[in-house]
Amino acid sequence: MGFKSIAIDGPAGAGKSTLARQVAAALGYLYVDTGAIYRTLGLAALRHGVDPQDGAAVVALLQGCAIDLRHGGDGVQHMYLDGEDVSEAIRRPEISDYSSKVSAIPEVRSGLMEMQRSLAQQHNVVMDGRDIGTVVLPNADVKIFLTASPEERARRRFEELVQRGTPQPYEEVLRDLKERDAKDTGRAAAPLRRAEGAVEVDTTGCSLEESLERLLTVVRTGVMA
Ligand code: DC
Repeated sequence: MGFKSIAIDGPAGAGKSTLARQVAAALGYLYVDTGAIYRTLGLAALRHGVDPQDGAAVVALLQGCAIDLRHGGDGVQHMYLDGEDVSEAIRRPEISDYSSKVSAIPEVRSGLMEMQRSLAQQHNVVMDGRDIGTVVLPNADVKIFLTASPEERARRRFEELVQRGTPQPYEEVLRDLKERDAKDTGRAAAPLRRAEGAVEVDTTGCSLEESLERLLTVVRTGVMA
């Protein structure tokens, strides 16, 4: 019997990582955050002074650096860049823009695909990102498209940044989020869209608990049926 996979896609700030982690914990599955992989390459570009929109330079960078994803004994995902644990560094706000830009390069997407697929071949996974249900795991057992209004997503991101100690004005957060939505959905390579067969879950106005309940219902009726 093969491993089970749950694909959760959606725009930035929809609550994917928090909810996907909780769904994985509830089911005993491995949580895989694919955005962290693009963020690690974005960080490499920033550190090496590489223009994240220069395809040839970014591809050379990808080939020249070591990006590793490992889960600790507690099941928490860590990202490594050339052996250094960069799990914290990739969360800085400027990395969001860099990662969105490098992720639009087709060779970057294909170069990072195997890492994602092989995890799903070796574990039961809850994997979140932008193209998991459409490209990475098109045969996932359950596909969810998680959304919320831009204003609500910006408010959540704003609060998250305050908690992390890296606050940004709300208007700036909303503007950046709308820009990133446009980049992630408008790009030619694996744009963000609802996968065929994906259940759309809109969490606008829902508490985290309510959203988790809705997701678990979708998952249970889908995977466990
Ligand atoms: O989920 P996130 O905000 O950490 O993702 C950072 C960027 O990476 C996002 O703007 C688009 C890109 N990304 C992607 O193209 N495909 C994925 N599966 C996950 C993220």
